[in-house]
Amino acid sequence: MAGGASGPELAAAVSGAGGLGFLAAGYKTPDAVREEILALRALTGRPFGVNLFLPQPPPADPAAVDAYAGRLASEAARYGTPLGDPGTDGDGGSDGHDGHDGHDGHDRYDGYDGHDGYAAKLAVVTEARVPVVSFTFGCPAPEALAALAAAGTLTVVTVTSVAEAVAAERAGAAALCVQGTEAGGHQGTHRDDPRADGGAGLGLLTLLALVREAVALPLIAAGGLMRGAQIAAVLAAGATAAQLGTAFLVCPESGASELHRRALTDPLFPTTELTRAFSGRPARGLVNRFLRDHGRHAPAAYPQVHRMTAGLRRAAARAGDPHGMALWAGQGHRLARPLPAAELVRVLVAETDAARAALCPAAVPSPDAPAAVPDPGPPASGSTARDVPTVPSVPPASSAQSAHPAHPAQPVPSREGEPT
Ligand SMILES: Cc1cc2nc3c(=O)[nH]c(=O)nc-3n(C[C@H](O)[C@H](O)[C@H](O)COP(=O)(O)O)c2cc1C
Repeated sequence: MAGGASGPELAAAVSGAGGLGFLAAGYKTPDAVREEILALRALTGRPFGVNLFLPQPPPADPAAVDAYAGRLASEAARYGTPLGDPGTDGDGGSDGHDGHDGHDGHDRYDGYDGHDGYAAKLAVVTEARVPVVSFTFGCPAPEALAALAAAGTLTVVTVTSVAEAVAAERAGAAALCVQGTEAGGHQGTHRDDPRADGGAGLGLLTLLALVREAVALPLIAAGGLMRGAQIAAVLAAGATAAQLGTAFLVCPESGASELHRRALTDPLFPTTELTRAFSGRPARGLVNRFLRDHGRHAPAAYPQVHRMTAGLRRAAARAGDPHGMALWAGQGHRLARPLPAAELVRVLVAETDAARAALCPAAVPSPDAPAAVPDPGPPASGSTARDVPTVPSVPPASSAQSAHPAHPAQPVPSREGEPT
């Protein structure tokens, strides 16, 4: 989770508990990404992932950006800070993805220009032989995916539609992250199209079923997952693993700001919406004053809007005002549990196993069982993915922040030498 929420501490805790923790490379400098990989490796010897943003196409209609800047003048006055330059400002917006305002220097964050140092970061993760690299906002070129595979890296491309899934499979992705519209933060849509605003997004189970029938790759399900029973549901629907973001924002190892954490379960913030208000690209966050006032007027202009609002969001956070921050959250946010990350992974695994066992009571067949009862397949996995026999050497279930045992029917391709 870019913006500060998932750094080495959270990723290490998740990986150490048998999940697959992820570092967010988005908005950071390539050097900062390299340092975080080293820091994570110092904390755990377990597999982990790094998430990269694909470069964005040339920007939006400048008139629409100007009009939105005019609208945000009142916000600049309210927080006593100027709007960022949509094009050239060197301030990448440390709170960018999640409303986080916790770090002081901006040296670790790039002036996000829509390219996000993509080529340099690809070189960093390739050289570092990162076990899993995932992508959002597009699909890498086949050569890039092949180069990572040759370095022993498992590649994952985030998709939000069947067309994106098919394209990613053709390009050579090893697995897909299937992101439903319930998901917190930005939708990983490959090409942002404002004509799709207002209802085209598919819910996770529907999208998963459609993608499952269109491609043969292992699928990682993301969006709104907060409980093991939901993870069991996506595994039953053909996913190999589950990816959870919002559930881990409230863990003590998360870098999310205190205001953001509190808002996730505060009854004053009961709902979420997909909005362009903060970044210019659809992202799901808690409905607050800023989103309500400006969401309908925000243009499709990423990262211009992101850059314009970065200072405002930080100023709001400094002022202790969650109504001016981007409070990214998935639809399940009210189910967040502030447990240590390793404990949360264990609870999720136990809940998933219980839900799967409840669905397959015939795992120990009864002599009276009717013939129509389907073969339950292999037993539910144990408390960690290490116990999943069909996936002997793979990061089991990947997730931006968590994971769950691989679905035996869809094992992620084995990676020699990787502990699970
Ligand atoms: C605060 C926050 C930051 C996120 N940042 C990223 C990111 O940098 N890259 C990415 O691929 N997905 C990002 N996501 C989306 C997650 O990868 C995932 O799709 C989402 O969290 C799943 O939905 P959930 O939040 O309901 O669990 C972010 C989500 C949140 C909540």
